[in-house]
Amino acid sequence: MSANESAIGLAADALETPALVLDLDAYRRNVRRMAEYITGRHGLHWRPHMKGQKAPPLALEAVKAGAIGVTCATLYEAEAMAAAGVASILIANQIVGERKLDRLARLAQRTPGVIAATDSLTHARMLAAAVARAGGALQVLIEVNVGMNRCGIAPGEATVELAGEIHTALPSLRLAGLMGWEGHVLSFDDPTKQARIDEAMTALTSSAGACRAAGIPIGIVSSSGSGTFRMAAPLPGITEVQAGGGVFSDLNYQKWGLTEHEFALTVLTRVVSRPATDRVIVDGGFKTMSVQHGLPKPQGLAIKNLALSAEHGTLELAESSPEQPAIGSLVSFIPGYTDSTVCLHDEMCVVEGGRLVAVWPIPGRTGRREWAS
Ligand SMILES: Cc1ncc(COP(=O)(O)O)c(C=O)c1O
Repeated sequence: MSANESAIGLAADALETPALVLDLDAYRRNVRRMAEYITGRHGLHWRPHMKGQKAPPLALEAVKAGAIGVTCATLYEAEAMAAAGVASILIANQIVGERKLDRLARLAQRTPGVIAATDSLTHARMLAAAVARAGGALQVLIEVNVGMNRCGIAPGEATVELAGEIHTALPSLRLAGLMGWEGHVLSFDDPTKQARIDEAMTALTSSAGACRAAGIPIGIVSSSGSGTFRMAAPLPGITEVQAGGGVFSDLNYQKWGLTEHEFALTVLTRVVSRPATDRVIVDGGFKTMSVQHGLPKPQGLAIKNLALSAEHGTLELAESSPEQPAIGSLVSFIPGYTDSTVCLHDEMCVVEGGRLVAVWPIPGRTGRREWAS
């Protein structure tokens, strides 16, 4: 049993700290906002990315709210989601390495709704070889480079050629469609951001059109994240949206334009020392709160500076205050980036109406044998 499981039913301020805390009501309101915009307003499928959310109950919540399934970054996340009962899982990364490929092929046997990404014929042949060893079939999406210059085959002719090879020469792979992630536009301001999203989505949807014109069926056209989907979803030709982390929101997503969402995920810390009237030390440092993409922000305290060492947060108060916050009192932080904060934790403390109602394990970065069985 984890430290905080024994606190279920108690008020949130009884939690052992540092603790990753999910405000279930705020989270559910964010989920409804995303589902309403993506599926209700724009008639698209929602396949939220779980790379930053990780905990399988969050996937089940999204599916209950109308998501078609989930997107994952790793095979291990996908295995955890499948074990929790999620039926449709896109792994939006290239899985490589023979043992891992075999694990993927076995996962697809157990969960036929698994879809793997590929961006080259060399890699597609590796997928097909793994399927041949395991038996069965595997759905694939071709990842198209829509300008981010990470993975992805060039849009247009190169995409059509790869799609044709998969469709005709690798029968154990079922080509389900295309995906593209416009992550390179996140930090642009309007109107440049909209123009760059338009360009990226045109690269993706015109590639889908060119495949179809060549007689290759393309069902899924998947794209977009929490910092772009509100601008991408109205564009024609996309069938589904991968935005995920917006269900938590954070300082970064807010900066990237997701201003209407609530901060549903926080890190709860406790004051452990008051060495000076303008200095507060809490029990959360960079092993608890990520500094990637910006520092977290304490709620309800005006500070001049925040420094994070491994297990200490040092807050320099804007105005000296010898009494408050006192040793033992709580300081809650809004993460700079929830994605890189969640993965620092083993569990998420779920709070509803001010009480701890559940503790959800967060799958780690390595594959667990029980999920792969
Ligand atoms: C393939 C892919 N899709 C979508 C996203 C957006 O995810 P989120 O909405 O959680 O920021 C990312 C983020 O890195 C990604 O890599």
